[in-house]
Amino acid sequence: MTQSLLEQFFAPCPRGLEEVLAAELSKIGCSQLKAQPGGVAFCADWSTAKLANLQSRVASRILWKIAGKAVRDEKEIYAFALSVPWPEHFSVDRSIRVGTIGIQATVRSLEFITLRVKDAICDRFRSACGLRPSVDTQRPDIRISVLLTDRQCTLYLDMSGEALFKRGWRIAGEAPLRENLAAGILQLAGWQPGIALFDPMCGSGTFLIEAAQTASGVAPGALHGFAFEKFLARDPSRPFLQPGQPLPGIFAGSDIDPELVATARQNALNAGLAEDAIIFKVQDAREVDPPCVLAPGQPGIILINPPYEERIGFSYAKDAGVFFDAFAANLKRKFAGWTLYVLTTDKSLQQKMRLKPARRIPLFNGPLDCRLYRFDLR
Ligand SMILES: C[S@@+](CC[C@H](N)C(=O)[O-])C[C@H]1O[C@@H](n2cnc3c(N)ncnc32)[C@H](O)[C@@H]1O
Repeated sequence: MTQSLLEQFFAPCPRGLEEVLAAELSKIGCSQLKAQPGGVAFCADWSTAKLANLQSRVASRILWKIAGKAVRDEKEIYAFALSVPWPEHFSVDRSIRVGTIGIQATVRSLEFITLRVKDAICDRFRSACGLRPSVDTQRPDIRISVLLTDRQCTLYLDMSGEALFKRGWRIAGEAPLRENLAAGILQLAGWQPGIALFDPMCGSGTFLIEAAQTASGVAPGALHGFAFEKFLARDPSRPFLQPGQPLPGIFAGSDIDPELVATARQNALNAGLAEDAIIFKVQDAREVDPPCVLAPGQPGIILINPPYEERIGFSYAKDAGVFFDAFAANLKRKFAGWTLYVLTTDKSLQQKMRLKPARRIPLFNGPLDCRLYRFDLR
């Protein structure tokens, strides 16, 4: 098979960002895009699919569809998985992990399907070379995804390996906000290089780093290793990306926690940004002033995901009203003309801030049902 043939892929993404992802994949050169709940199905040649791994800011992974078949039961799923020439795809010394997703699947147990597909892969290897790959559920070399509906089984090889939102710059810990959700929100907010961006509750700096990397022409996958680099059936070489043309930007962030500000600074350096690319400082969000903007009369975007739990020294239920009232009062006084975007699980935040939202976009931060509110400050 020549590598310019179109093949089929599926890119999962945070729920609510499917259309944003479809637009992004189209710009990268993917075609026949179909946004579905939780992701986008598309076609691309192999080189373009590799580029999507390096350049998509919104996809969580890129899954390559290697086979699909109508199936009735567990036995047929095993036989179907056994029919795939796995040893042509990766070598037996690679560790594997199988995961199954069911959509209206009628089988009794998805775990059992995972087990049977894993058995089929191992059996196919055993009959080819007398050996079987080992299973590693933590850091496998190769991930196989099984999608099961009421009548169809589809097998995917995960091209990405580690999830694409793990960009490789974060110093420690789980992200409070996944990088691909932050990137999608920037696009929903209409942020582009040239528009000043300010996050006065910046934490580890996710919004600002995503935006500053975009403006600096640093690819999101620059520090990422990919599973496709271990594949045998297609060209595993990593595409060389010419660094993009840096564009002007004003990026500023502050947080009340000095340790988090230090973390954000280090994260920005790890992300390949110049020391002065983002201005960080320690400050209470209720007292912030506008950072300078690129041109007078061209205000910018304030983007925050404020704390939603009892983790910042106040009880949310008891103190959030007073806190957000003071936060919004300061913004109303000093940030006329700016647009404020807030990602929150708090459905009554607008009342607390005494501001009327101009837009309300449903989004999921992992399992959390959130809204992205837009407020026009006058
Ligand atoms: C959900 S986290 C934001 C996470 C951030 N978007 C990131 O990328 O890591 C909320 C942040 O609000 C900060 N915060 C809480 N109270 C604050 C205040 N009065 N002024 C400024 N920041 C505050 C917390 O320290 C925390 O970093």
